[in-house]
Amino acid sequence: MLRLLEATPGATGVGIDLNEDDLARGRAGAEARGLAERVRFVQESAVDTTQGPADLVLCLGASHALSEAQPPEHTTAALRALRRLVTPGGRVLLGEAFWHRPPTRGELSAMWPDASASEFHDLAGLVDLAVAAGFRPSWIETAGRDEWEHFESAYQSDVEEWLAAHPDHPLAKETRDRVDRHRSTWLRGYRDVMGLAYLTLVPVS
Ligand SMILES: C[S@@+](CC[C@H](N)C(=O)[O-])C[C@H]1O[C@@H](n2cnc3c(N)ncnc32)[C@H](O)[C@@H]1O
Repeated sequence: MLRLLEATPGATGVGIDLNEDDLARGRAGAEARGLAERVRFVQESAVDTTQGPADLVLCLGASHALSEAQPPEHTTAALRALRRLVTPGGRVLLGEAFWHRPPTRGELSAMWPDASASEFHDLAGLVDLAVAAGFRPSWIETAGRDEWEHFESAYQSDVEEWLAAHPDHPLAKETRDRVDRHRSTWLRGYRDVMGLAYLTLVPVS
């Protein structure tokens, strides 16, 4: 959102999250980019939000935040909410998980607790859901392996660097266990199986 506001002089933005630390990070980023006057970060649930409508609605890895529906219905529920939140002539950018191929039983058991093959759709099924919710897909792209590896490594590297500097810290063992579990979830579970689609969606009546 901050990058888009920088590229669009005069535009204003609202960021919604429940997590105050993330909101504070967003506010600091806005301040650093000289955008503080054009942006608000609000701590509230996005379920049934009264914010908006907006000309551009960004929902990246956060469709679960738009409704209380459980997977796999949460994607349809999120698309309905996004359809309500976008102005006529506006656009939605949805970043949503999908299966590149059906996960094996072994891969599912290495993912998060209760991971299930019905949790996500394939890419064609995901785009069909968007069309059924009142959108046309004007751009369809997916995160490549390089992007995934950069995302995962950047996330885990912070923790590994902290562990390297604090090997005897009282929290080192639980931190090491946590990052070991996460790395295994990725490398034995969803790597090359779960994708992330970026759909630019045009609302239609
Ligand atoms: C995977 S993160 C995506 C974060 C965001 N796209 C970004 O780039 O920083 C999912 C976010 O959804 C937030 N979240 C979860 N439930 C929510 C809800 N009901 N309302 C608003 N935010 C929620 C979490 O706090 C988390 O920051």
